[in-house]
Amino acid sequence: MKLCVALDTASFNTNLALVKELKGLDVWFKIGLRSYLRDGVKLIDAIHQTDDFKIFLDLKIHDIPNTLADACEVVANLEVDMINLHASAGLAAMSEVMNRLNSRPHRPLVLAVTALTSFSEDEFKNIYNQDIKSAVIKMSQTANQAGIDGVVCSVFESLPIKYATSKEFLTLTPGIRPFGEAFDDQKRVADLSTAKANLSDFIVVGRPIYKAQNPREVCERILSEI
Ligand code: C5P
Repeated sequence: MKLCVALDTASFNTNLALVKELKGLDVWFKIGLRSYLRDGVKLIDAIHQTDDFKIFLDLKIHDIPNTLADACEVVANLEVDMINLHASAGLAAMSEVMNRLNSRPHRPLVLAVTALTSFSEDEFKNIYNQDIKSAVIKMSQTANQAGIDGVVCSVFESLPIKYATSKEFLTLTPGIRPFGEAFDDQKRVADLSTAKANLSDFIVVGRPIYKAQNPREVCERILSEI
């Protein structure tokens, strides 16, 4: 299991300070929409200049097949190790992306977002008219069929997804509160031992790290437990 630290702070400088503080640790960094829209490739370059960190570019791209594949080709040209798109773009769109990316000598890992971990069961049903678990399993099977490497899901769906696809199909799980911290806006939240028991391949942790008094110490504690 790998720890992916969310670079969701308010400025380029505070994000970079966090990266520098975690120098030498075995962590990935997740660059989300706000940071990428504001700082772009400058942040990716600054991370690479700091250390040999792996980067997950979390843009959750969602569009029609050709536009989605065009966009994924552009992000695959960046120096990042993992990208993502929305599984609800569908089988044709995800297959088009993977056909294009697989024709290259190197490509980043590609994950599909299933249900956001901020959804409650009621909110999700209101929009999709399905329960979260069955929708997430169906989206994961479709993503697997399209040749996608894995999915973004809550810890509680990780194990059922592996049963429904394969144990090699990756799960990346946000909504982790390692040591019982505040939920913030997350609803389907779990701690480290639950993430481990559910075979999560990557855990994403944001606020419990970057809002801590000593982010490096929190990361070290998480790493020693995983
Ligand atoms: O601060 P916190 O640990 O809640 O941050 C979680 C991170 O994971 C945020 O960057 C959020 O955008 C992202 N994320 C999520 N749920 C998903 C996909 C991504 O919380 N399903």
